[in-house]
Amino acid sequence: MAEGILLEPVAREKLLPEASRVLRLEVALPQIRAVIAGETDAVALQATLACLLWEALPQTNWCGFYRRVGESQLAVGPYQGTMGCLRIDFARGVCGAAARTRSVQRVPDVHAFPGHISCDARSRSELVIPVVNQGELRAVLDLDSPHLDAFSEREAEILHAFVDEILGAPGVVF
Ligand code: SME
Repeated sequence: MAEGILLEPVAREKLLPEASRVLRLEVALPQIRAVIAGETDAVALQATLACLLWEALPQTNWCGFYRRVGESQLAVGPYQGTMGCLRIDFARGVCGAAARTRSVQRVPDVHAFPGHISCDARSRSELVIPVVNQGELRAVLDLDSPHLDAFSEREAEILHAFVDEILGAPGVVF
């Protein structure tokens, strides 16, 4: 299976209704779990999650990770989508806010978020999930969409729990 997981084909960047998006995640996540079972290398996990969440979340135009480098900076990691910023300081943007506060940032309209970094001018909404392992902020999962309000609270909860389960596990080597 070249795609790795089996999901209904959906056009790239299409925004499905919320219930369909949640259902698609519920179908995708067990398959993703099976694909990565036993892997402990953080880059291998992040690259595979970026690839498969990109399929699970067709509303995205950017799906991937920023890794913590140094005290208060993020550097781009494995991702799918249009070119992202290479470095983001903790003080800046939605990713910086997630890294600094270690809390999920769900931004239905990025233009209403002070300091939002516009890497792709088409991005309208964003969901950023902190990756914490053994008490350390290691990375953030950044999801961007060209649609307004493309990520619901339920999707945020599901993805937060999933990222925590996979990348928050004590055996993962960063
Ligand atoms: N919009 C993000 C920057 C990351 S790139 O768009 C991929 C932010 O404000 O943190």
